[in-house]
Amino acid sequence: MSIVVTAASGQLGRLTVEALLTRGVPAAGIVATSRDVTKIKDFADRGVDVRRADFAEPESLPAAFEGADRLLLISTTTPGERVANHRRAIDAAVAAGVSQVAFTSMLHADTSTTILAPTHSATEEYLRERLPSVMLRNGWYLENYTVQLPQVLTSGVLAGAAGQGRISAATRADYADAAAVVLTTEGHAGKAYELGGEVAFTLTELAAAISTAAGKRIEYTDLPVEAFARLLTGAGVPAELADVIADADRAMSRDEFYTSSGDLRRLIGRPAATPAEAIAAALR
Ligand SMILES: NC(=O)c1ccc[n+]([C@@H]2O[C@H](COP(=O)([O-])OP(=O)(O)OC[C@H]3O[C@@H](n4cnc5c(N)ncnc54)[C@H](OP(=O)(O)O)[C@@H]3O)[C@@H](O)[C@H]2O)c1
Repeated sequence: MSIVVTAASGQLGRLTVEALLTRGVPAAGIVATSRDVTKIKDFADRGVDVRRADFAEPESLPAAFEGADRLLLISTTTPGERVANHRRAIDAAVAAGVSQVAFTSMLHADTSTTILAPTHSATEEYLRERLPSVMLRNGWYLENYTVQLPQVLTSGVLAGAAGQGRISAATRADYADAAAVVLTTEGHAGKAYELGGEVAFTLTELAAAISTAAGKRIEYTDLPVEAFARLLTGAGVPAELADVIADADRAMSRDEFYTSSGDLRRLIGRPAATPAEAIAAALR
């Protein structure tokens, strides 16, 4: 019986496979899937069972999920096709006799007003009706900010539309570790974990933390949602993604990306990386 990690070629999936290995799961007990197995050849070289799975091609899924006991369904990147893709993956998990599926959902999926929320809540509902399941409602990635550091340091400006909303972001590595815990321990079926870092911040505070770490003054510039979306498209972000990001900031201004649940810390058994630690690591 094995643990399947879908989207193992992605950033979160890769870190989850690493976390499972670190937590002592034998490589041969892990199935890592991708639409293109050449992307995860390094895992095959380490003894992980690498298989092809494309949620858009249901015929690829029975062999990919065969023999699976638990499965981590990582949400896919194409919002328009997301629910159909996730449903096909869940149907295949049911057919393969998977005993429990964990799904990487989003923070407050059931109440969030974001463009992103309906695909996550629809997947949660479909999954909950069919299998013992665990919702890993991941908050925003700290990397969504640290990846911007070169440009922020050049311009001296962190831009957004989140107002003074508080954001409970955490690193992908900490969300991945939480997923590994849920996949390898008992007592999680039926739970919806609201996952986020404990050091919540406003973007004004984040700009101050970057200033301190970099020794250079960084200002937070708060823009109207439409203006922020235009700024993103002007910087080369595809229009659909720019709208999703700007809309997420709008929801952040309403504290929709904030949680005080403590679920992430409890699951991983240690404090999650703080914004200051993530910034320092990215600047090294
Ligand atoms: N919390 C946040 O801040 C945040 C931000 C961005 C995204 N997300 C969500 O979290 C997910 C994981 O994040 P990430 O950083 O790991 O994303 P990522 O690095 O872009 O990886 C996305 C993964 O989705 C897989 N995928 C896409 N379409 C698929 C399909 N039809 N069938 C099977 N797999 C498919 C890709 O696998 P292939 O190798 O097959 O291409 C890839 O491994 C994202 O997909 C997105 O839903 C969250």
